Amino acid sequence: MPRSSPLDLHAIQTYLTTQCLGRRVELHEHLDSTNRTAVALAQAGAEHGTLVLADAQTAGRGRMARPWFSPPGINLYGSLIVRTTMSAARTAEWLSWLPLMTALGAAEAIEIVGSARIAVKWPNDLLINERKVGGILCESGTSAGSGPFQIIGIGINVNGARNDFPEELRETATTIREETGSLIDRNRLVGQVLHELECCLDEFLARGSERIAPAYRRRCATIGKHVKAVLADGKECLGVAEAIEQDGSLTLLQQSRENTKAAQAVRHLRAADIVHLR
Ligand code: BTN
Repeated sequence: MPRSSPLDLHAIQTYLTTQCLGRRVELHEHLDSTNRTAVALAQAGAEHGTLVLADAQTAGRGRMARPWFSPPGINLYGSLIVRTTMSAARTAEWLSWLPLMTALGAAEAIEIVGSARIAVKWPNDLLINERKVGGILCESGTSAGSGPFQIIGIGINVNGARNDFPEELRETATTIREETGSLIDRNRLVGQVLHELECCLDEFLARGSERIAPAYRRRCATIGKHVKAVLADGKECLGVAEAIEQDGSLTLLQQSRENTKAAQAVRHLRAADIVHLR
């Protein structure tokens, strides 16, 4: 099997077109979790746009406290430190949209570099042909000296093969290479993700969700689908995903045996794990 080219700071710099994101990059051979290291750096005052990258993670974190499969040499695992100043009202909107606009930016970057059509499963799973090719984990924190920050953690399955995944992920996960047959330059992909993400963040800072929301809705494969939503407390509900609201929440037309059509319940989900049923 052809080999994935190594991650390399100099190569990443040649692809960098951003003003802020990735102007400082810390590249590690392995870390337990890039999010964990990024939180520690942010707490110590690291500046907006700092990127922590690792070629492998020994304890990669996924959403809903799941592990993130992070073998060496083939994928991208990165965490960005983001600092912004805005009113409390705008901060709430920013925090709800951050994972969604990150998914939008990452999808655009993978499409450009990998020539693969990427759909987003609400809120922020990246899919090719309904299989998961990437995921996003955002965290927030604050440091005494330099105030609040957010960490955007992005994992993308790039150059591996389906058989590299543990058995339990093989049916639902995929890689860019598996879907397109092409080996991707991970350094170029880092540069493109940073570029697209900076465009999305700048757009949101300028106009809020006015343009980001319709762009996200166009990418979102969840709308119109019958779905199972697994909530944070483990409870499940079935329904049809109706819309993404202006605050980024998912409107679900809930189905239950007792519900007649006239009395279907509408639920607004802020966080959940969604399974596309049909
Ligand atoms: C998900 O469960 O879909 C989110 C996965 C996020 C994984 C990335 S890999 C880089 C960063 N560091 C982590 O520990 N997690 C995120």
